[in-house]
Order: sequence, then structure tokens, then C-alpha cells
Amino acid sequence: MQNNSENPGRENKKTMKGLVTLEQFIADQQALHAGATGAFSRIFRALELGAKMVNRDVRKAGLADILGDFGSTNVQGEEQKKLDVIADETFINHLSRCGEVCAIISEEQDEAYWVPGGENNEYIVSIDPLDGSSNIDVNASIGTIFSIYRRKDMSRRAETADCLQQGIYQLAAGYFIYGSSTMLVYTTGNGVNGFTLDDSLQEFCLSHGNLRIPENGKIFSINEGNSADFPGGVSRYISWCKEKDKETNRPYGARYIGSLIADFHRNLLKGGIFIYPPTAKTPNGKLRLMYECNTMAFIVEQAGGMASTGTQRVMEVIPSELHQRVPLFIGSKKMVEMAVAMLQG
Ligand code: AHG
Ligand code: MN
Ligand code: MN
Repeated sequence: MQNNSENPGRENKKTMKGLVTLEQFIADQQALHAGATGAFSRIFRALELGAKMVNRDVRKAGLADILGDFGSTNVQGEEQKKLDVIADETFINHLSRCGEVCAIISEEQDEAYWVPGGENNEYIVSIDPLDGSSNIDVNASIGTIFSIYRRKDMSRRAETADCLQQGIYQLAAGYFIYGSSTMLVYTTGNGVNGFTLDDSLQEFCLSHGNLRIPENGKIFSINEGNSADFPGGVSRYISWCKEKDKETNRPYGARYIGSLIADFHRNLLKGGIFIYPPTAKTPNGKLRLMYECNTMAFIVEQAGGMASTGTQRVMEVIPSELHQRVPLFIGSKKMVEMAVAMLQG
């Protein structure tokens, strides 16, 4: 320990590990793009504020009257939970006021939401305001999923067709996860970074720089309750995961939380594959292309992983309608390649 007598006036400066806040990180990124107008940071600030408010509600869900059903169903015919509706209203409110967004595609809105007075704005946001609704009342991890697109044609009023863009045109994709800690994970096409909310500061701080998904993994994540309906190739792959083979670390472990966000996040950090295949109830799979599959596909590809519908790259699917569903095979590259190969076998 250096004593001060040798260096009068120089106290021992404990080097604080520099906290990088989300604002600082976005500002630094913006500096890298000469033409950056600050629009991104205004959209992200709106998303961040919305997430902090939803996080606050989630953390006291049992104490406030926000558990349980809202008493209506969304366009998907799914029972809306109170928190689904609260989260939807929160994000629509903040995104509408940030001055950059012309339209919002939300799981909880039948049609595209046209931001009042936003017809000249350049950006479109697709959002799943609350992912994992079935887990709200049982205190399991839930989250918010979002993608940001640019309007393709500014010369005329935006229409629904402007919202239906392939995932390859995403400018940014990310999710907030309200779990044992609250995190933001996102990409703008230059890798994937994770930020953890410091509750005392109410700041998202960089905690997982340059996230990469392991090329292979030992976890498979699928709702085996639907196995009677699985396509042959999926059944073959799941049986293969369960076989004993030391060489290839099998049998793999089965993990299924029932929130895409939580199952995806675990696999992103540890390696693994998540599958939502076609089922009798959902012949095109259950998950929605515009605000679940494309978002996670952009993130996983930027982290070195892979996302397929089983027949094509998720991000190349040409959307035909706002709430379109596609089958999803996503995670560690080698695992997705193996699963897709078995589908075609
Ligand atoms: P949401 O709550 O936004 O409707 O999403 C729920 C989704 C997804 O989070 C999860 O992976 C999947 O539903 C679970 O579906 P099953 O309960 O059919 O397995
Ligand atoms: Mn969802
Ligand atoms: Mn949802």
C-alpha cells in the first residue's frame, strides 16, 4: 500500500471500474457514424424510459392491482394480461412523444399504430411490449422485445406496406429482460452489447460487452407438451439430443422457461438451441416474425449464432402481414445447423 508521505497530496486513488452508461455508449457509437442525427438516441431514450416504468410495475406486481387478466383478447386471440396492456400503453406513449417514430407495430395492436403528427417521421418500431405474459403472475422472467426500421419511402405518407420489411432491414434490435436483474441487450449491426440496470442510479450500465454465443451448446429448449405434433425432423432432433454420447456431450440438458426472452437470453450466454416448431394449434409456429423472431434473429446472428424457420433464414422471410407467425430454430450455429439438417433428412 503506497503511503502518502512519499507522495504528499496523492491519496490512494482506488481506480473505479469506469461505469459506461447506455447514454454514453450510444453517444460514443453515434460519434462513429458521421451522419448520425441523434434520432437513435431519442428512440432509445423512449424505450429505456418505458422499460424503467414497466420494470417498476413488474417489481411490485403483487402489490399493485396489475396481476391477472385485463379481460380482453388481442388480435392473436390471446387473453391480455393487465401488464400486457400497461406495457403497450407505456411504450406507445413514450415512442409517440420522442419525435422520431411514424408507426408502431405492437403485438397488442390489431393494426399498425400511426403516431399522431408523426407522418413525416422516419422510423418504424415493432414491439412485443410484454413477452412471456403467462409468467407474469408466477414471478418468472419476462421482457420487452423491439426492432427499429427506417421508412423506405419518405416521399409519400407511410402505409402498412412500409411496416412489412424483411428482418435484414432492421437498423436495431433488442430486448429488455425483467429477471433476477433487469438488462438491455441490443445490436445495431456492430456486435451485441448487454447493459444491466443499476437500481440505485436508475442507469443501464455496460455489463456484457461484445456478447458472442458459443458455437455449440448442451441445452435444448422446446415445449415437449406439443411433441405429438412435432414434424418428424424435430422429433428426430430432440431424440438425438437425448441420446447418450460422451463424445458430443449428450444427452443435452432440457430447459424451458416459457418466455422466449428468458430462454433466448440463457442460450445466448451459455450456448443452446430454442425451437418453436409448427404445432396442430399453430401450424406456422407460435412466435411472431415482426417483433419476436426477426429481433432475436438479428441479435443472434450478430453474436455469431443462427436463426432459421427450418426452411430459410428468418431475416429473409418476406412478411405478408403484421402478426405473421413463423417456426423458429435459433441459437448456437452448430446446433441449429444440425436441427435443420435433420428436418431436411
Ligand atoms: P407473449 O407473452 O408475448 O405472447 O409470448 C409468449 C411466447 C414466448 O414468450 C414463449 O416462448 C412462448 O410464447 C411459449 O409458448 P408455449 O406456452 O406455447 O410453450
Ligand atoms: Mn412474446
Ligand atoms: Mn407479448
